[in-house]
This record gives sequence, structure tokens and C-alpha cells, in this order.
Amino acid sequence: MNAPSAVNLAGNIEEQLPLDIIDFIRKAGDAAEKQQQRLYLVGGLVRDLLLERGGTDIDMVVEGDAIRMAQEVAGLVQAKVTVHPRFGTATLKWGKRSADLITARAETYARPGALPKVKPGTIRDDLARRDFTINAMAVELNPRRYGELIDPSGGRRDLDKKLVRVLYAKSFTDDATRIWRALRYEQRLDFKVETETLKLIKRDLSMLATISGDRLRHELELALKEELPEKVLCRAAALGVLQQLHPALVADDWLAGVFAAARDSCETGLPHPHLYLALLCYRLTLPELEKLIAFLRLPKAAALVLRDTLAVKAKLPDLEMPGQAPGVIDNLLQGYCPAAYTAVSLASGSAAAAENIELYLNVLRHINPVLTGEDLKKMGVPAGPQIKMLLQRLRQARLDGFIDSQKGEEEMVRRFKP
Ligand code: CTP
Repeated sequence: MNAPSAVNLAGNIEEQLPLDIIDFIRKAGDAAEKQQQRLYLVGGLVRDLLLERGGTDIDMVVEGDAIRMAQEVAGLVQAKVTVHPRFGTATLKWGKRSADLITARAETYARPGALPKVKPGTIRDDLARRDFTINAMAVELNPRRYGELIDPSGGRRDLDKKLVRVLYAKSFTDDATRIWRALRYEQRLDFKVETETLKLIKRDLSMLATISGDRLRHELELALKEELPEKVLCRAAALGVLQQLHPALVADDWLAGVFAAARDSCETGLPHPHLYLALLCYRLTLPELEKLIAFLRLPKAAALVLRDTLAVKAKLPDLEMPGQAPGVIDNLLQGYCPAAYTAVSLASGSAAAAENIELYLNVLRHINPVLTGEDLKKMGVPAGPQIKMLLQRLRQARLDGFIDSQKGEEEMVRRFKP
């Protein structure tokens, strides 16, 4: 048995976690004792408890059998359980909460980028396979040692020193997504990647090529969900990490400026990740963009925003021209996704273009003739393509201010109907 740890986080748990989560982990600890298993909180939540940042993402490790444990614990909160027997893991979901339980394991990697080979292990084995010292701590939940911190690699010391440090030199060759993770934690927490770890990142940059586009996309998505994603992207660019996604990607002061402007432009202060992505890709050419979309296997909706952004950008010379008629502006801008307009407004740096985009979004696109297709038929226009054509003409005339009433529309129909 380990000597009792000097550090106990029971107080941090009581002070920082929501009451229902405290209740859940206490009961889960009791259930573990009943099953004669050992249950631990691990990973980000432990790190954030020590940093007094609280949190609600519950990751647990069971020394024993996580699936058996999950089934017992699910009954305590009427949670829905999903089990993955192959991996010895389970997820519980109840209300707005969820918890992941895994069986403590020891891992080895057959080759860089491959998924690890796994066998059951102790909590210490499990912590030893993790990415960074600050993420490789556990808190015991069994009643006898409730709250005790297990910190074999000096995670608490590194939290004090504000350092992101790997546990072993092959960490990034085992899993190069950890390079992105290191930069996320560094920038989010205002830490520094520790000197030796930074050397390893530089040494192992090429290992990013062992990671699939899907997994890299996931890392990029996580970076874009950070409070200040530009910090992560600028650091990634400075280290050559960003360029591994596409060599033409750039993150610099300009990008930082437009990301900040994107936050200012939305009510919640939290722009949609697609908008950030469109700004990041704004300076790519279309062929470069297509290559990136294919490599990252971007979902349709994201790809559409990016393509539309470049399409609207291509119209900038016309959009910036002084005195463009509303009908022309409407024609130029019709049919793109909303995020594409916002991206171009923010990124073009052109007040004239931004003004025309605003005019289109707030006014022009809502303008429609009063008469409907049915009305036109009643006025004697034969059913078929002519109806559509005439309705378009009416809309255009309204946009350009030639007509502004139903009477005007009717006159126009009479003039043009065959
Ligand atoms: N982990 C790891 N290597 C990875 C991914 C995850 O070692 N490539 C471990 C870390 O111990 C991490 C834990 O799994 O703390 C949970 O991963 P995740 O949920 O991605 O990270 P969190 O630490 O919870 O971080 P975040 O605050 O970003 O959610």
C-alpha cells in the first residue's frame, strides 16, 4: 500500500464542484468500496481542481473492471450506460452530466501514430501513459482515502512552475496529437512548454504526418474552441505545427486581429468555429483550400462556409466599387452561407464592402414583391417559367427602387406579360 499522500483535495472538491457532482463522486466512491475496487478521478478535472478552475468533465479510472463499476454507479443517478467491452470503458449520461470510466491500463505503442496496445494495470501504470505531468494526477474516491492526491510525476510542482512537461521522451512519437495538446494547455493556462519538452516537439514535428486527417481536424477544432484560439494558432505557426496541416496556413498579428474582431461582432462573444476557420483559411487560394478540406475531411457544412468565403472574397472588387445599385449588390451576394459574409466583412478590411454586405443582410435580402405567383396567374400570366421570371423582375425593380407599391407591380406585370 502507498504511504498516505500529503495532499488531499476533498476541500477543493467541496468548494469548486457543483453539488450534484460532489454527491455523485461520493456515492461512486462508496460503490467502489462495496465492489472492492479502487476508483479515481483523473486528468483535466484534477488539474483544474488544483488550479481552482473547477470543472464538470468527469474522467474516472477503476483499478479493476470499469464496466462492472459503471453498471453499479449508473443505478445511483439513473444514468444511461454505454459500454465498450473491447476497451474496458464505459460512459454514463444523466441530465446534463456525463462521466467516462476506464479500466486502469498499461499501454505500449507498436508504431508512431498507431492506437496503443493495452493491458490492465494499476492507477500508476495508467498515469504513466498520459501526456503531461499536469494531466497525470489522480484523486482517490474510496472513502478511506477520499480526496488523496496521487501525483507520481510531479504534476503539482509543474502547475506551480506553470510548465507543460511530457512524462517521457517518446511521448510525441507515440502520439503526435499531443503536440497540439501541449500548445492548447500552454496558451489556455498561460504556462510555458518546458525546455526539454519544447525540444522534443521540434524534434518530433514530422511525427504529425503519422496522424490521420480526422484526428488532426479534431485537434484543430479543439484549438478553435479555446477562449483565445489565435494564441494557440500563432504558437503553432511559430513552431511549424500549423504548417503541417497545410504549408500555406499563416497565423500572425493579422489573424489575431480578425479573431478578436469576430468575438466583438457576435453577441455571445463566442464566434462559431466555422467563422474562425473561415478567417484562418481566408488567405488560401481555392486549390490550397480544396487540398486542406480533403486532407482534414472537413464535414460538408464547414467546407461550404470555407468555399463560400473565398467566393464572396472574389467579388470584393465589385463590392467595393462606389455607387453600386442595390440590385447589383443583391446579385453579387445572393445564396452564400451567413458565416461567409461575416468572414469577408471582417477580413477584407474594406469599409465599403462591409457596408454593402450589411445592406444586403439587413435590407436587400428581405425585399420581395407583394404579388405572388398565384396573383400573376390570376392576372393572366400562363403557368410555367414566365411566372418565375416575372417575379424576379418585380423583385429587381423593387430593389432598384423603380417600384414601391402593389399598384406599381401590377402595372409592370401588365406591361411585361406575354
Ligand atoms: N490524454 C493523454 N493523451 C492524449 C489524450 C488524453 O494522455 N493524447 C489523457 C490526459 O491525462 C488527459 C485525459 O486523458 O488529461 C483526458 O483527455 P481530454 O479529455 O482530452 O483532456 P482534459 O485533460 O480533460 O483537457 P481539457 O481541459 O482540454 O478537456
